[in-house]
Amino acid sequence: MNGALTHWSNATVHVSAHALHYGSGVFEGMRCYDTVDGPAVFRMDAHLDRFYASAAVYGIEIPYNREELAEATATVILRNGFRSCYVRPICYHGSSSLGVHPRNCPVEVVILTWPWAPYLGDEGLETGVRVTVSSWTKFHSRMIPTTAKGCGGYLNSMLAVREAVEWGYDEALLLDADGNIAEGSGENLFIVRDGRLLTNDERSSILLGITRDAVITIAGDLSYEVEVGTLKLEDLLAADEAFFTGTAAEVTPIREIDGKQIGSGSRGRVTEAIQQAFFAAAYGRDTRYRAWLHFVDEQPAAAALQDFEPVRSFSD
Ligand SMILES: Cc1ncc(COP(=O)(O)O)c(C=O)c1O
Repeated sequence: MNGALTHWSNATVHVSAHALHYGSGVFEGMRCYDTVDGPAVFRMDAHLDRFYASAAVYGIEIPYNREELAEATATVILRNGFRSCYVRPICYHGSSSLGVHPRNCPVEVVILTWPWAPYLGDEGLETGVRVTVSSWTKFHSRMIPTTAKGCGGYLNSMLAVREAVEWGYDEALLLDADGNIAEGSGENLFIVRDGRLLTNDERSSILLGITRDAVITIAGDLSYEVEVGTLKLEDLLAADEAFFTGTAAEVTPIREIDGKQIGSGSRGRVTEAIQQAFFAAAYGRDTRYRAWLHFVDEQPAAAALQDFEPVRSFSD
């Protein structure tokens, strides 16, 4: 936290922090996998690129360079003794004034890590999840930039997922301001039709997911055609298969939308092939994707240091 290794229970924020009141921060979500060659963060470079890009959108200057953030990430993972975990870098305006303009508010940077099971469940990965179309609209990118991962924007996701869970579903799917499909509350969407993959892009007010990008590459390598364009609800309802992608959710099949079964109502053949190839890349079993892995124990600073008690349980 701000350059020092800090125990979970001491990593606190003051009640007057600007970000607490106005959501003035940006964050990332990465996963470290216990690969065949040791713990490695999947696509750390892309996540750090997006972290700096998100901060720049909000005029936040991250006071650490990429090497420092990469080194801090590796240190936090190794000092906790984790081989696989979720990693959450966050940078936000701290405490100084509570005018909406964050002038004089310091920029705080924290990297948290904890073990996190598949976001939509192990069973969801295998059998697929049940999804509802949200009554909330995904905010338009002219309101809040959707390609930046800004803290405050997640209120929109929170409303959607709370409603979905209240209605007995696993996840919400939000439409954009034009009524086209945007994305899940924390995932991008792919559909499969006639053996081709279709997904949307930033014109539908989505976060450009790094898992989405990996899946587009992997699908191409598996010789699937991938088409990027607008997706309508009727495209999804008529799809042979559909799945969500995201760092937390990985590649999760969708089996139902508001009571309407998608395809066979279970994980489809193409989804399974993509899922397997994704995990082969993330766990280092497919060496073609080696450049996507950032091995944490190769990080110079990671070896040293005193005893440190890791967080053992922190649940969603
Ligand atoms: C709203 C939203 N869309 C999409 C994604 C997927 O992005 P990524 O694959 O980079 O994790 C996320 C997760 O970060 C998200 O929160």
